[in-house]
Amino acid sequence: MELKDKVVLVTGASAGIGLATARRLAQAGAKVALAARSTDKLTQLAEELRRDGHAALVVATDMRNQSEVAQLVETTVEHYGQLDVLINNAGQAVAGTVAEVDLDQFRQVIELNVFGPIYAIQASVPKMRAHGGGIIINVSSMVSKMHLPGLGGYAATKAALNMLSDTARGELAPDNIRVMTVYPRMTATDFGRNSLGNRPMREQQRGNAAPGMVIDSPEYVAEKILEAIQKEPAEQFMDA
Ligand SMILES: NC(=O)c1ccc[n+]([C@@H]2O[C@H](COP(=O)([O-])OP(=O)(O)OC[C@H]3O[C@@H](n4cnc5c(N)ncnc54)[C@H](OP(=O)(O)O)[C@@H]3O)[C@@H](O)[C@H]2O)c1
Repeated sequence: MELKDKVVLVTGASAGIGLATARRLAQAGAKVALAARSTDKLTQLAEELRRDGHAALVVATDMRNQSEVAQLVETTVEHYGQLDVLINNAGQAVAGTVAEVDLDQFRQVIELNVFGPIYAIQASVPKMRAHGGGIIINVSSMVSKMHLPGLGGYAATKAALNMLSDTARGELAPDNIRVMTVYPRMTATDFGRNSLGNRPMREQQRGNAAPGMVIDSPEYVAEKILEAIQKEPAEQFMDA
């Protein structure tokens, strides 16, 4: 898709990969709608983008709340008149072994990483259908393809998202809605700090990752998301 003047909704746009993606897509000519819970951070980003001549809309949203997500999509379409690209990026990890992971925290992460994207897809698809098509990008994780001790719960949420994404791709193709999955690997954001669960295990995972492992910048992942919108592969991986 050529991005100029297209309307892109980015969830989790207040920090990390989502913030870098919103900024990069605005620079590429998109009109962005920014969603997350931190209104102050979203407002700051929107002001920065508007100063640079871009269109930006802030909609404070908890992605675990279905009616808030429905309102997010309504507000975006009311404001811009359409929705061309949905980027399901908001996400959080929970650390803990399968035997011991805190189940309330695991539930919260399922709500955000699995139900959040479905709420957004279900609200967006009718709008995209009415407009002749669109793109849905689901931000997964390479962790969903691995068996990392202490990250099974988080990996399971992303594996579920992969399957929903792969299935929706076929289901929505007749509506000209293209569904893609993006697979970041370890990325330098506050993601580890923001994750729930066993703190020593979280720190050990970040520490273990250091020797020899590539850590991407959020700007690099944003560039890959832009590339996915332009080239429309079913799956977008980071380069080796
Ligand atoms: N960083 C990595 O190493 C890595 C690797 C692979 C995949 N990923 C995936 O990439 C995505 C972005 O991660 P990141 O590294 O940018 O993490 P991050 O820096 O922690 O940012 C997470 C974003 O999600 C938002 N968010 C969290 N809970 C939310 C909620 N209940 N409702 C709405 N928004 C919420 C946060 O905003 P508020 O707190 O303001 O709501 C923030 O904007 C996630 O899906 C993550 O699983 C990350």
